[in-house]
Parts: sequence; structure tokens; C-alpha cells
Amino acid sequence: MAKPKKFYQCQACGYTTAKWMGRCPDCGEWNTMSEERKETRKREGLVSGARSEPIPLNEIEADTTVRTGTGISEFDRVLGGGIVPGSLVLVGGDPGIGKSTILLQAAALLKGRVLYVSGEESPEQIKLRAERLKVKSENVSLLAENSLEHVIDAADSMEPSVVVIDSIQTMYTEDFESAPGSVGQVRECAAKMMFYAKRNGVPVFLIGHVTKEGAIAGPRVLEHIVDTVLYFEGDRGHPYRILRAVKNRFGSTNEIGVFEMSDQGLKEVANPSELFLSERPQGVAGSVVASAIEGTRPLLVEIQALVSQTTFSVPRRTSIGIDFQRVNLLVAVLEKLAGLQLGGMDIFTNVVGGLKLAEPSVDLAVVLALTSSLREKPMGAEVLAFGEVGLSGEIRAVSQTEVRLKEAAKIGFKRAIIPRSSAERLKEKFGLDIVPVSSVSEALEAAGL
Ligand SMILES: Nc1ncnc2c1ncn2[C@@H]1O[C@H](COP(=O)(O)OP(=O)(O)OP(=O)(O)O)[C@@H](O)[C@H]1O
Ligand SMILES: [Mg+2]
Repeated sequence: MAKPKKFYQCQACGYTTAKWMGRCPDCGEWNTMSEERKETRKREGLVSGARSEPIPLNEIEADTTVRTGTGISEFDRVLGGGIVPGSLVLVGGDPGIGKSTILLQAAALLKGRVLYVSGEESPEQIKLRAERLKVKSENVSLLAENSLEHVIDAADSMEPSVVVIDSIQTMYTEDFESAPGSVGQVRECAAKMMFYAKRNGVPVFLIGHVTKEGAIAGPRVLEHIVDTVLYFEGDRGHPYRILRAVKNRFGSTNEIGVFEMSDQGLKEVANPSELFLSERPQGVAGSVVASAIEGTRPLLVEIQALVSQTTFSVPRRTSIGIDFQRVNLLVAVLEKLAGLQLGGMDIFTNVVGGLKLAEPSVDLAVVLALTSSLREKPMGAEVLAFGEVGLSGEIRAVSQTEVRLKEAAKIGFKRAIIPRSSAERLKEKFGLDIVPVSSVSEALEAAGL
């Protein structure tokens, strides 16, 4: 038999070369090249044996309504309304964030038999966790296994309705010689599970580790193989955990599910806005509430800013939860167009609750919080603000104004400072005092800053 061909592959991006290199020429990462072997066996396809034939689209029968609920509605929301048969879902997240916890909780709530494969923990350890979480476990079968071939054999004989693999980095396939967790192994194991899922119509959940940088370990291609990628995020210091869909072939992305971690596992948070605002200090400068949209849901969050005279030659600027560059841009707008003296100031901005916001609609709240902190004037506790701030100081419309306002009224806000163009299109005011603004200076005036 011919000797399998050796080559080197970057563990970060999947780039291959014949010779070892210290630095990947493709992605520029150092020390990521590791030895892999080219497999020589025949590949399997979605349909084993016979070659598949083209089928007219209208003749394919697929019931689009057959999503199964996980029993955890926040989880279902992120999945796009439940589990799609035959889908492959990757759940990534930092160590100890609660990946195994949520999948064990969901597994126990699912109807039908679940095969929970663990390559990291023994069945006894998982049983201990199950007892702590007080989950009913008649339907869940545990398998402590690292060989993917054995997992597939076990699944073929057990015929479960859902398979959970905890984690994909601990699995290995005999077709590859490299160590578990390497690019080749991870990709091959994921591909095999994909064939298994599609062939049998069984949904498969893969737990994935993340790298220091926060990306799912293994090659980017892993994210292309799977149907849905969920990230489990949260701040160590906070009990809140956020499950976020970053890719979903069967639902909207950026949808989030909010959970609270307790000794009895993850609890759903049905009204996250209330939770994120629960400890808000009243009458304090530098705190402004914004209304962001995460997926399809409005979320009221407190944006905090602290502006103080610097004692260093270069002022410190830190931003947690909002893009740092975005804050710098807003600082520049305030300096140039509202005449604020922020040059010699240390500036810190924070989103309360460990949330990460990527939406431009929080711009206005950031601008108001910065001004409020600089001038040491608090903004009214019953006022909220949202809108995108442009480089010439204009306040631009944002999407879903009505949804945001409705949520604000529900939580008990009385006034909303919103973009003028959004205000003109409003059909209902939800009992709020709407203050339309079209520029940063108008907004500062409306907020009494
Ligand atoms: N007795 C307990 N009381 C409260 N919280 C607990 C308790 N035991 C565990 N936890 C929480 O559960 C978390 C571990 O959850 P889990 O094992 O599901 O994480 P994981 O994401 O699967 O981690 P890993 O990547 O190491 O597999 C801990 O970080 C902690 O927050
Ligand atoms: Mg785990």
C-alpha cells in the first residue's frame, strides 16, 4: 500500500503546505502548522451506495413544520423555532460557560431518545451534573467515547432521535492519524456527523471549544459544514449567559436567548430588559438607557460612560460591550460638532450586564452618556434614547422603531428621544412622550444636558 502523503496544515485557517513553516503565509498566525496525512480511502456521500439522481424541486416532499421544540423556549428561539430534522448544530463557547449544561438540560426535556456522547467526562460525572440540574433522564443514554466510528455504530443500533457530541475536538476518526482536535480530525469528524445527520434525518448537536481569540477551534470550514452555529457567551462576573445564533440556515441570525446560570443549571430569562435594568442607579450622571434589537427582540440596556481628567500624557480610552472604534468616532463627533472638550479626558464606556452590542442604534445613548458624564448632569431615569449618529452629527433613523418603543413603554419609560425621520413614520406612540431630534446638539438639548 502506498504510504499516505504527509503535509502541514495551519490549525487556524486550514492552509496547507508541503514543508513546515513557522508562520502561516495565508493568515499570518505563528506556530499553527501541524502535520497531517492525506487520506486515501473513498469518500462517502449523503446517500450511501447508489448514485443520487436530480429530482424536480416541486416533487420533493418535506414537511416544513416539523420542528421539534427543545422544551427551553429561549433555545428554540435561537434555533429559529425548534430543531430541524437532520440539522447539524454547532454550539461554541468559552470553557466553563455552560455548553454541556444547556445541552444536557435540553436533552432531558426532548421527546424521544437522546444519545449524549461525551469525550471529556465519564458517565458518572455527567450523572452528577444531571442530579445537580435535577433533570429527568430516562430518555438520555450516555456514551463515553472518543472514536467517531464507535459513536456512529452506537447511534445506528440505538436509533436515537437526537445526538449530542460533547465535544467535537475530543473525537477522532480512524481514517486520520493526526491527534484529536487537529484541523483534519475536527473537520473529518464534523463531516462524518453531517453525513450521519442528513442520511438518517437525525439532528446532531456538536459542542465546540473556542480559541483564545474567541473563534471556534479548528478550521473555519467547520462553520461552513454545519447548518447552525450558536455561540454561548457571557461574562465571568455575571450570572447571565447569552446564546447567540451567528449562522442559521433555518432561521434568523443574531437572535439571542438569555439565561441565568444558577446551581440548578441555566434558567430562562423571559424578560431580559427588566433584568438588565434591574440594578440601574437613579439620578447618576453618565448612565443612559438605549433600546437595541437583538434578532427579532428589543432589548433595553444601560449604557454607562465615565469621563474624567486624565493624569497621563495619553488619555486612556476603554470600551466594553461596544466597538471601541465606534466610541472613538462618536467622541470625535462630540468634539467637533457639539464643542465638547474631550481631548484630555480618560473615557470609559460600558454596556451593563456583559452584553455585546453591535447595532448602531446605541450611538445616541453613547453620545448622551458621554456628555452626561462630562457635564456631571444626570439624565432623567424615565427617558431613553436611540438612533444612529452620523459623522456630520446627524441622527439617522433605525429599524423597528415601534418595537423598541413598545418595549420601553412596557418597562415603564415615559419619554423617548428618537430620530426625527423615524418619529415621522410612527403610527402609534404607546403612551410615550416622543421627542424627535435630527442632530446631536438637538439631542443634547432635548436630554437637558
Ligand atoms: N454547584 C454549582 N453551582 C453553581 N454553578 C455551577 C455549579 N457547578 C457548575 N456550575 C456552573 O456551570 C459551569 C460549568 O458548566 P459546563 O460544564 O456546562 O460548561 P462547559 O461550557 O461545558 O465547559 P467545558 O468547556 O469545560 O466543557 C461553571 O462554570 C459554573 O458556572
Ligand atoms: Mg463541557
